[in-house]
Amino acid sequence: MSYDFDTIIDRRNTNSLKYDFAVERGKPEDIIPLWVADMDFQAPQEVLDALQLSVAHGIFGYSEVKQDYFTIVHDWFYNHHRWDTKEEWLIKTPGVVFAIALAIKAFSKEGEGVMIQQPVYYPFEETIVLNNRKLIVNYLVYHNGKYQIDFEDFENQIIAGQVKLFVLCNPQNPVGRVWTVDELTQMGDICLKHNVIVVSDEIHCDFTFPGFTHTVFAGISEAFAENTITCTSPSKTFNMAGLQISNIFIKNEKIRRSFIGELDKCGYSQLNTLGLVGCKAAYQYGEPWLKELKAYLNDNLSFLREFIKNELPQIKLIEPEGTYLIWLDFSSLHLTIGEMRNLIVKKAKLWLDAGQIFGKNGAGFERINIACPRDTLKKALEQLAKAVKEL
Ligand SMILES: Cc1ncc(COP(=O)(O)O)c(C=O)c1O
Repeated sequence: MSYDFDTIIDRRNTNSLKYDFAVERGKPEDIIPLWVADMDFQAPQEVLDALQLSVAHGIFGYSEVKQDYFTIVHDWFYNHHRWDTKEEWLIKTPGVVFAIALAIKAFSKEGEGVMIQQPVYYPFEETIVLNNRKLIVNYLVYHNGKYQIDFEDFENQIIAGQVKLFVLCNPQNPVGRVWTVDELTQMGDICLKHNVIVVSDEIHCDFTFPGFTHTVFAGISEAFAENTITCTSPSKTFNMAGLQISNIFIKNEKIRRSFIGELDKCGYSQLNTLGLVGCKAAYQYGEPWLKELKAYLNDNLSFLREFIKNELPQIKLIEPEGTYLIWLDFSSLHLTIGEMRNLIVKKAKLWLDAGQIFGKNGAGFERINIACPRDTLKKALEQLAKAVKEL
């Protein structure tokens, strides 16, 4: 390995949401944080160099991008995901959740239905509810250790809830599914049949485990491309969420105009200068780093799997196909929500995301972020094993 993912970098006192806000959020100071989806690794050196050059120049006036920005982003998706985009499809926003909120406002009215598939990344629900839209849920079905889609329910929910917009999470956070072409096609066909626009959040698209391939939903057919808002970002892939840059692709001109109209209403125009610099450098030079990072994450997953098998047999690992967020089933412990927090936070001194925040069918599960040095993961798991043994 030419990159070092083993060294523990002290992130405390850097205004890190993950490391510096435990006490404010009611957690012990010495908790190990494995919750929010950022990584404990530095971004690739080329990204750091590009940012340093920009900082050394020292003028942070308004910035825009030229065609080379698009070419670099285009090439990433073309080379990694066999998806061919056009420059005019691209709209930049400061975040994916921001883009989802814009889409909700642009393509539904207050009181109208917006559908998601829980358990899912919790800001989906929050954004729908806070915008006074009706939350419609097609619950994922947990069967034999794997999550599946109930397509009959998918269609029934759309009809009953008069759904205008469906927010898809592909790959899925937290259950780790990388949806297959067949699954995506079935969902896309139902959406087309009922005039439901699809927002496809593909922020985790670069994280697939060996044997799994990400499919860009809009890349499946012309009809899907015309009905989809695809949300991407280098933020997860290269650990630069704080730089606030995401690339949203909308082929359909009418949909694109409405989306841009909503963006304009927010008064948002130019993006963060450093975000644009970081995005370009990451997509242009970050591939070798990402390749090794993925191997490291796969080794972390193997470590976690072995550890659970040997030390924590009460807990079930839901085998992930993608992302670096792992969904763990604690239901055999038969603990209440309060008892679970006591176990995880007070006894094991771990900050994980409790399953129920992803939706009511998430209760009994915990989400753990394994994008950290192996020693951090090992320490966390040892603390967890000790706490479970003492139950
Ligand atoms: C599925 C998904 N979408 C969006 C985000 C956040 O994106 P952003 O920070 O660009 O709003 C996350 C972060 O964890 C995520 O997991």
